[in-house]
Amino acid sequence: MKYVENKVVLIGTGAVGMAYAFATVNQGIVDEMVLIDINEAKSRADVLDLNHGEAWAPNPVTVSFGKYEECRDAAMVVICAGVAQRPGQTRLELLETNLRIFRDIVNQVMASGFDGIFIVATNPVDILTHAVYRFSGLPASQVLGSGTTLDTARLRFNLGQYFEVATTNVHAMIIGEHGDSELPVWSAASVAGRSLSRRVAAHPDMKEDLELIFVQTRDAAYDIIGAKGSTSYGIGMALARITRAIMSNQKVTLPVSALLEGEYGHTDLHIGVPTSLGRRGVRMVIELDLDEEEQARFDASVNHLKEIQEPAFA
Ligand code: 2OP
Repeated sequence: MKYVENKVVLIGTGAVGMAYAFATVNQGIVDEMVLIDINEAKSRADVLDLNHGEAWAPNPVTVSFGKYEECRDAAMVVICAGVAQRPGQTRLELLETNLRIFRDIVNQVMASGFDGIFIVATNPVDILTHAVYRFSGLPASQVLGSGTTLDTARLRFNLGQYFEVATTNVHAMIIGEHGDSELPVWSAASVAGRSLSRRVAAHPDMKEDLELIFVQTRDAAYDIIGAKGSTSYGIGMALARITRAIMSNQKVTLPVSALLEGEYGHTDLHIGVPTSLGRRGVRMVIELDLDEEEQARFDASVNHLKEIQEPAFA
């Protein structure tokens, strides 16, 4: 194994990258973090700023500004670089520009001799994760994206508010594209140990409320971007959660963007599905027992991504 224990290289130190760096340092998840960005002056200032918090971090952590050679012995490279959505723009509209940026980034990372795990956060995240998989030539287990981890956290928060229970007592997941065609898996959801589908069967009025909660969850980013220009803390904490799962070999299930190789009846794309994460990345894709409607919506999400992905890689 060629990596240094718990060393992460972060590429792209905009609002998302820095929210991730802050969450990660603050939670004591890594021993070493290297920041890379084209805006060197700003990144060096970010490094200094983070170093000034180290005294209060749970563990010692070395944060520095670096170059692509630093990826050689990193356990993980997290990519948050690229152009972000402007108000009203969909995630998929960013594809062309970000593909160009990604080809260059991945070439430079791989030229260093990197053999760790890539995590992608830039949008459209599913297609860019697939791009990293293709450009890097690394095994599928070593390339994943944030997928629907953030959407799932939003759903759990919204359901927690609705049912007035702790977010941690809500078990519910969003799968599919991180974007407009994603779907909630109500058939596998439970709140405080009670099956959601059984509650809906007993209280049919609840169905409409749940649909509204889903729409609010799916469209949350548009509202936040409209008001403050970008989303950052939610995705930063989702990335930190994924990092902890991998660094601590937790084997927890998180809905990241992973390669489908026949699971759910599909191949050749990355999309948000529950996966078990450990020290070497994706241990396995978990196949949920989707009901007929959920499977149809998932298929539609796959087809939607493929329609955009296929010409991009032709
Ligand atoms: C989000 O969902 C914009 O994809 C980003 O917050």
